[in-house]
Amino acid sequence: MPIAVVVGAQWGDEGKGKIVDCYASQADLVVRFNGGANAGHTVVFEGKKYKFNLIPSGILYSQKTNIIGNGMVIDPKKLIDEIDGLLKSGHTPNLAISPRAHVVMPYHFVLDGAEEIRKGGLAAGTTKRGIGPCYADKAARFGIRVSELMDAQLFREKLHTMHQLECRIIEGVYGQVFKQTEDEVFLQYSDYAKRLAPYVKDTNEIIHSAIAKNKRILLEGAQATMLDIDHGMYPFGTSSSTTAGGACTGSGIGPTAIDEVVGVVKVYTSRVGSGPVPTELNDSIANYIRDKGGEYGTTTGRPRRIGWLDLVTVRYSVQVNGFTGLAFTRLDTLSGVEKIKVCTHYTLDGKKTESMPASHKDFERCKPVYKEFKGWKDVGEKEWRAIASKGFKALPKEAQAYLTFISKTVGVPIYIVGVGPGREDTIVLKDVFKRK
Ligand code: GDP
Ligand code: IMO
Ligand code: MG
Repeated sequence: MPIAVVVGAQWGDEGKGKIVDCYASQADLVVRFNGGANAGHTVVFEGKKYKFNLIPSGILYSQKTNIIGNGMVIDPKKLIDEIDGLLKSGHTPNLAISPRAHVVMPYHFVLDGAEEIRKGGLAAGTTKRGIGPCYADKAARFGIRVSELMDAQLFREKLHTMHQLECRIIEGVYGQVFKQTEDEVFLQYSDYAKRLAPYVKDTNEIIHSAIAKNKRILLEGAQATMLDIDHGMYPFGTSSSTTAGGACTGSGIGPTAIDEVVGVVKVYTSRVGSGPVPTELNDSIANYIRDKGGEYGTTTGRPRRIGWLDLVTVRYSVQVNGFTGLAFTRLDTLSGVEKIKVCTHYTLDGKKTESMPASHKDFERCKPVYKEFKGWKDVGEKEWRAIASKGFKALPKEAQAYLTFISKTVGVPIYIVGVGPGREDTIVLKDVFKRK
């Protein structure tokens, strides 16, 4: 039963899209299991950059079914735009949407903005895609599922209740006005329902008949461990289960069926949004990495905060996800930095700690302790690609030492090393779908 999960080990944007695209070449099914249009996953194929918010990153392989899993929250307009974008560029999406996924409604966007303002210093700096309010409705059992959107009468009934309720909250609690009438929302979303209906399928049957036939399934996570609703640095994360456990609940695949869990690790830290990041840099090295790597949010365009790699975070990620392998990205971006630091532990109130604190207040007070590594030279895009074709041993010796140290420290083998954004810029040391 070859089933593999890909999740982010840090604060998001590690390069999950690229890793999924890489492994998807050997997969039969790709399932995105969490999040919504807050995600931005980049895949570079034949020199062209594709950015996916909701559609799984295996979509460019037309023979492979890509599933929007039950754990996701779908902004239907965004999804239709993504489908149309693919059709325009000559790709017919082989897509199936879970009828159990939830629908992001227009009032969720208004609430997302209003709640952020009310939270003040505890705001996460959300993507304003309605994610938190949609998952909140799901948990409160007020949510609207895709199956309900597809049933006009049921949708109308639920919308009637929700429209009244949300209007009162938006007005009464937040002093704002929700401008769309119930009829307007109904008509708009009924149109979306018609467009999406052909893609809504019994994804549970698709997944489990594939498992019965021993097909290969790749589960794609969005966001990352430090943003997880349970394990992340609450309240500065997102509202879904971004970790490997979320792959099970968000797809309907039991944990016993999963063979591999790959943690994607960017070889430095980046963060978009607010909250403490102990290894954050505000100096010329951060600017160098941000400019060189184009470190600006895929979804919102915000400049990403940059810092040294934090092994306390990666080790914690290994614990809560049970990684079987690590996929490193952006070795090329870090090249040219003369001395590279990696945080091996923190001190908290003068005491050494290797554990992740539960409280963001404690996390704020954690001071990183670093080990220094000699950097490696930038060899340019072409040469990085040539190195990728030769394999791990062709990497600069200093880079090999850096990656080996990380892998040994956290006790997880290296599966992939990325030295550029394309499939060809990737060294695959272990193919997760090869039988043991
Ligand atoms: P995701 O959200 O985890 O899928 O990551 P994003 O797509 O938001 O951000 C990752 C960015 O890094 C994208 O622009 C990728 O094309 C790029 N990328 C991924 N791996 C590498 C790599 O090894 N080297 C370089 N230079 N870019 C990479
Ligand atoms: P991918 O899948 C990086 C961050 C936001 C904010 C917090 C909550 O591309 O790695 P939300 O809109 O989810 O309520 O925002 O989480 N965030 C991400 N940061 N990459 C992402 O996705 C993110 N999705 C959400 O910046 O701090
Ligand atoms: Mg991203």
